[in-house]
Amino acid sequence: MNDRDKQDDPLFRPARLGALELPHRVLMAPLTRARASQPGDVPNDMNVTYYRQRASAGLIISEATQVSPQGKGYAFTPGIHSDEQIAGWRKITDAVHAAGGRMHLQLWHVGRISHTALQPDGALPVAPSAIQPEGAKTFISADSGMVDIPTPRALEADEMPDIVEQFRQGAENAKAAGFDGVEIHAANGYLLDQFLRSGSNHRTDEFGGSVDNRLRLPLKVVEAVAGVWGEDRVGVRVSPTGSFNAMHDGDPQATFGAFAARLDDLGIAYIEVVEDSFQGNHADGRPEPIVDAIRSAFRGTYIGNGNYTAGEARARIDADRCDLVTFGRPFIANPDLPERFRRNAPLNEWDSATFYGGDEHGYIDYPALTEDVA
Ligand SMILES: Cc1cc2nc3c(=O)[nH]c(=O)nc-3n(C[C@H](O)[C@H](O)[C@H](O)COP(=O)(O)O)c2cc1C
Repeated sequence: MNDRDKQDDPLFRPARLGALELPHRVLMAPLTRARASQPGDVPNDMNVTYYRQRASAGLIISEATQVSPQGKGYAFTPGIHSDEQIAGWRKITDAVHAAGGRMHLQLWHVGRISHTALQPDGALPVAPSAIQPEGAKTFISADSGMVDIPTPRALEADEMPDIVEQFRQGAENAKAAGFDGVEIHAANGYLLDQFLRSGSNHRTDEFGGSVDNRLRLPLKVVEAVAGVWGEDRVGVRVSPTGSFNAMHDGDPQATFGAFAARLDDLGIAYIEVVEDSFQGNHADGRPEPIVDAIRSAFRGTYIGNGNYTAGEARARIDADRCDLVTFGRPFIANPDLPERFRRNAPLNEWDSATFYGGDEHGYIDYPALTEDVA
């Protein structure tokens, strides 16, 4: 790229995201790293270092964080439902802010992607319908390996207000922890996604069946969370064609087009769309008709995600296919990813063996560019 192009690098155009002004468009995707302290699922000093190292992201979206003990689905993931967790997160948001960054918390309830060993009192995980996610796995301790997931219990209709309350309280706690906003996790086969998509939602009451009914619980959650934060500090993540966690939908364009329209009515800041994923995609590459459906229904910010390179992100921002891009694995391996993109510098490669769980290795020891490299 020559100097003139560099001056108008689409990745480095400032952008507004709801209430936030972002200095550029290279955002950090939510990334579970399973390194919170036990017992209690509490963020720790090593987690502070990890996020501080990545504070140059346009926005950091935190790893998925359970809103309640019932919302937990893997060992070592952090929560946002206890005072200790709030205090742990506060150290992280303070460090990110002191380093000039901005950070959202990803609010998470795993639904059926859990295990009796992780649930309070050994209860069965909950879901819209009692359907076992075929082939989906979790890990329940440091040495459990990947284990099968049991058939969940279908939630009763009168339990829905409690689910909404779990998210509302999580949003409240995220505020107390000093975040700049929140992202509601409605992607990748977790609870809200299980309600959205027809493959996992076989309910015959007002929470299942028609598209409107499948949207009902997720929309109640979004409304409750926006009531806490104001809609301009709330985003929603979706994965319309993702197959991870045994997911599929009969008509993702209709489902997610309708969801986007209702989210537009609510006026939230953004939708982050997992367009493509190494974890599995029913579409062949990015599902362009669904991108179109969401973009035409939703006037807020559209964040693209999944297998993006800097080059493709530049091209798609320029072509108005997305406004911002979140990078996942590249941010694991490159704490200073924006600066590397700015300079077209080489990237560190990620080590997938250290993605989930463990110590500093593969977590806070990826090197930043040094001045002499520059
Ligand atoms: C180690 C790891 C952990 C992840 N954890 C989360 C998560 O907590 N929440 C979420 O929505 N997506 C999660 N994802 C998916 C990423 O946010 C992203 O969608 C995916 O990695 C594709 O983007 P990429 O190609 O830039 O890595 C995770 C991915 C990886 C590799």
